[in-house]
Amino acid sequence: MANRDIVILGIETSCDDTGAALVKNGETILSSVVSSQIKIHSEFGGVVPELASRSHLENIYIVIEEALKEARFKMEDIDGVAVTYGPGLVGSILIGIEAAKAIAYTYRKPLLGVNHLEGHIFSTLLEGKKPKFPFLALIVSGGHTELVHVKEFGKYKIIGKTRDDAVGEAFDKVAKLLNLGYPGGPLVEKLAKDSINRVKFPEAVMKDGSFDFSFSGLKTAVLTAKKANNNIDSKALCAGFQDAVIAALLNKTIAVAAKLKVKRVVLGGGVVANKTIREEFLKIGRQEGVDIFFPSVSLCTDNGAMIATAGYLKFLKKKFSSFDLNADPGLKL
Ligand code: KG4
Ligand code: ZN
Repeated sequence: MANRDIVILGIETSCDDTGAALVKNGETILSSVVSSQIKIHSEFGGVVPELASRSHLENIYIVIEEALKEARFKMEDIDGVAVTYGPGLVGSILIGIEAAKAIAYTYRKPLLGVNHLEGHIFSTLLEGKKPKFPFLALIVSGGHTELVHVKEFGKYKIIGKTRDDAVGEAFDKVAKLLNLGYPGGPLVEKLAKDSINRVKFPEAVMKDGSFDFSFSGLKTAVLTAKKANNNIDSKALCAGFQDAVIAALLNKTIAVAAKLKVKRVVLGGGVVANKTIREEFLKIGRQEGVDIFFPSVSLCTDNGAMIATAGYLKFLKKKFSSFDLNADPGLKL
């Protein structure tokens, strides 16, 4: 750690949340403001890219101003500006990048391009209990399902990933086919929690023995059950769907942790907001002697604070970005 406090402004606009936050030394949130676009996109049942970028443009400076005000900070006093440059929607990412560049240029601050997935992996550093390297990270969001061996900051090996739908996407699609609304994750979770019965769905097993995931078959199984009996209890479908998702996540993660002999598992991404997933991971962690780490619920979904934290780690390594920084919608870890 540097011998003085480092405050990074983090900007996140990769999907449908406009986020800005000020974070001290990569671990203390001075402010975090998120403007959600759920209302705009919900009538379409999913994110409309064109509407997303327009809304980011309208809100980005308001959100940044709010973050500075909440932290009682002046732009002159920050040490760097971190921004998501991928993966995500190109038009949305560009709004964040342009704002970050304008600030970095005007105030002569270092620019730090951050991979959104690194943000999710290191969001847990914003909590009291912090994991030591190496650890296994499970990123489960609307766009990603990845098991990553994190040896140190910047050194990653992807051990498993989804071959079709991401977990959050599967939650959203199941909610859509049951006419629950958008985003689906919290709605499916709520119905599952209220359910006494559950429809049993099989867990997808990879025939080649890999640690990849697959969720589209499960989503189709829910659709088939619904078509076979239109009066079927949606709660029981949600409960069964969630059970099968959790079984897949737990089994693969624990198997990989054992294979790699890692004793720490870090969860990140919007799906980790799910209470049952959090509880089940804690339970299996206790049984298997694996320490489980995850951020508080508000830091699971997209936010500027996690980008500031990953940006701080880049700042320490002096990995600054040039003004050529561009959006990379398909950016890998
Ligand atoms: O990380 P995030 O905010 O955005 C991406 O980077 O994709 O994740 C959003 C995803 C959505 O698919 C949403 O349905 C899911 O996270 N999600 C949940 C819950 N809250 C959000 N999934 C399951 N249970 C939840 N409580
Ligand atoms: Zn995300």
